Order: sequence, then C-alpha cells, then structure tokens
Amino acid sequence: MLEWQWPVRVRPVGFWAESLPPDAGLSGLPLDPNPARQYLLPVLRIGTGRFAVRIGPIMGKLLLAPMEGLADAVLRDVLTRLGGYDGAVTEFVRVSGSLLPPRTFRRICPELAHSSRTRAGTPVAVQLLGSDPVCLAENAAQLCTLAPAGVDLNFGCPAPTVNRHGGGAMLLDDPELLRRIAEAVRRAVPMSIPFTAKMRLGTHDKAKALDCAQALEAGGVVALVVHARTRAEGYKPPAHWEWVARIRDAVSIPVTANGEVWSTDDYLRCRSVSGSQDVMIGRGAVADPFLARRICALGTGDDGAFVDHAAEWLELLPLLADFWHQVQLRVAPRHAPGRLKLWLNSLRLTFVEAEALYMAIQALRRIDETSRMLELHGVPVRRAACAA
Ligand SMILES: Cc1cc2nc3c(=O)[nH]c(=O)nc-3n(C[C@H](O)[C@H](O)[C@H](O)COP(=O)(O)O)c2cc1C
Repeated sequence: MLEWQWPVRVRPVGFWAESLPPDAGLSGLPLDPNPARQYLLPVLRIGTGRFAVRIGPIMGKLLLAPMEGLADAVLRDVLTRLGGYDGAVTEFVRVSGSLLPPRTFRRICPELAHSSRTRAGTPVAVQLLGSDPVCLAENAAQLCTLAPAGVDLNFGCPAPTVNRHGGGAMLLDDPELLRRIAEAVRRAVPMSIPFTAKMRLGTHDKAKALDCAQALEAGGVVALVVHARTRAEGYKPPAHWEWVARIRDAVSIPVTANGEVWSTDDYLRCRSVSGSQDVMIGRGAVADPFLARRICALGTGDDGAFVDHAAEWLELLPLLADFWHQVQLRVAPRHAPGRLKLWLNSLRLTFVEAEALYMAIQALRRIDETSRMLELHGVPVRRAACAA
C-alpha cells in the first residue's frame, strides 16, 4: 500500500517538527541547521513504514542588512561566524559621476578576494547607490568583473547628503527613473549574478510604494528587500510589515521583509504579517549577535523563550577579541577604539556586561589602554600590529 499523509497543525511559519503527528517518530532526522533550508515533510507510508519526504523549502532566507558605518567587513565576519545567515549585503558604494576603480569595491567588500564570501562562507552582495542610470550601469559592469555574489541597488538611504544629490530614498518619488536605473544596470549585470534592490516605502508617504516595487521588477531586479518605513519615518518604530504584504501582492519576484526585528518573536510576527519567507535583520543583529542563530533554532522546535544571555556573553568574548584584533589591522589607530565603542554601544542593549565594558572604555582613546581594559573584563585580547 502506498499512501501520502500530509502534516497537520502547520504553524504560520511551518516548522516541520511541529507539523508532524506526535507518533511520527521523525524528530531525530538530521536537518539543515538553517531554517531557510528546512523542509515541510509529508509522510510517505509504505506498508507499515513511514518515511519523511522533502518537497521543497517552506522557510526563507535570513539576510544580514547593509549598515554603512556599522556593519563593515569585520563585523560581517564575526556575525556570520556565529551562524544563521544565508547572505549579507555591504554598506553602499556611492556612485556619482566617475568610474570607480576596483580597489574601491575591494575596500568596501574585501570578501571579493574570497569568492565574495565571509570566512564562514556567507555570500556577500555589493550595494551601489546613485541616481544616474548610465553611471550606475558602468560601475555595475566594473564591479561584476570582480565576481560579486550579487549586485544590489540602494533606494532607501535617508541621509541628507545622499538625498541632496537625488540618491537613495529620494528616488522613490520617481518610479519611472527607478525603472530606467534598474533596466540600465540589468543590462550591465550578467544573469549569473543576482541583481536585487532594497527600497523603503516612499519619501513622505506610501502612495508610490507599489509603483516603485513594480518599476524595479519591470526594470529586471530578481528580488526586492523592503525596509517597511518611509524616509520621513527614519528608524522610528513601528515598521509597517503589512505594506510588505501589499508589495508582495503587487509583484511576482521574491520580497524580503526588513525593519524592527529585534527578537525571535519579532521575526515570527514579521513573517506572519508580511507573508514573506525571507527576512533581513539590521540593528537587531548588531545588538544581539546570537539572534540569527536563535531564529534558526526555532526550526528545530526551540521556541526561543529561554535565552541565557550570561552564557552567550561568555561565548562572545573570544569573538570580541577577534573583532578588536581585526579592527586594529584594518583601521587607523586613532579610529580603532571608536569602532569598538560603536559595536559595544549596540551590544549593551542586550548584555549588562557590555554596558559595564562600554562605560569602562568610553573615555579611552589609545589602543594599549583599551586592550588592557578589555582584558580586565575577560576579553582574551590578542596583540596586533596596528594599521598604518
Ligand atoms: C547605521 C546604519 C547604516 C545603514 N546603512 C545602510 C546602507 O548602507 N544601505 C542600505 O540599504 N541600508 C542601510 N541601512 C538600513 C538597514 O539596512 C535597514 O534597512 C534598517 O536598519 C532597518 O532594519 P532594522 O530595523 O533591522 O535595523 C542602515 C541602517 C543603519 C542603522
């Protein structure tokens, strides 16, 4: 006898372990640790036996957001080593009028020297920001000679200096220009390299959000990330995840939801409200480096309710040391303590220990005194030759 038995009680995000009947006896099956690659398992009955059958992914990707001045290659390296990310995007590379030399792309994305992947193997797409279709296309072509894991366009940056020149979020007032930019860049990017865009919902209101998404799709982007706020809303909560759902209905390309995901609960609500399988996390990932891993653990039946921050802090200490080591190698000595403080400032949202460490190093300017203080707080500091 051969009979299909479909899982019952599927949760909104469709974690398979819960979806199987309790007597299915399949919970010991090895699963990919990343929920993005976990599968809903129907049970195939053959005689008295039951077999799990993979039918396709029901969970989407988890992406690390681009964050200029915050998530550079060093932080991407550390965060992706903790696990959970399917991809990352660099800070934007500003394109304005000239053809950038390859070294500019390599500086923002040193991962280009390693098949465009972080040390942990996470693919890193390079983001371009500009408003001139021809110039963007020429730079995208130049970038593509370096074989990036993806080319992404920024239509969300709210910075006045960028917006004054018509770049970033200001372009959302002009869907037709969005389409022309996407079309021009599409022609410059080989089909083998994913070409994507990241947008906000508008400049002052959301009236053109659907037009913008459709213009980008018409221009040839293969996927969209939607930061679910307008430029005017800045980073003020809430993120309007329901608008991601509206955009998903308006286009046929995959849409990733982004904005205000700080916890596993936020992640589940974001997926449920937006209907998007794919989620991008930004500040939450910096403040809580274990968030992506905890999101992955949801897929193995852990509901994420219990979080042992003290144990996580201990696990983070060697990574903090490595971060500090790498910063000293890459950043001028006078800026290195500032980079560390920037991350600690975010970490103190999650860890009381980070608060104490931040307060202790806040006034320090020199590398040696900062290293000593880190050691006093249990960070196993390595000595590094400083950048010139
Ligand atoms: C410091 C900072 C820098 C950012 N830089 C970029 C950027 O270079 N490109 C981009 O598309 N978005 C950038 N963003 C926006 C984030 O990618 C993300 O869309 C936003 O923070 C919302 O997600 P979150 O609530 O998870 O942080 C930046 C955000 C922050 C806080």
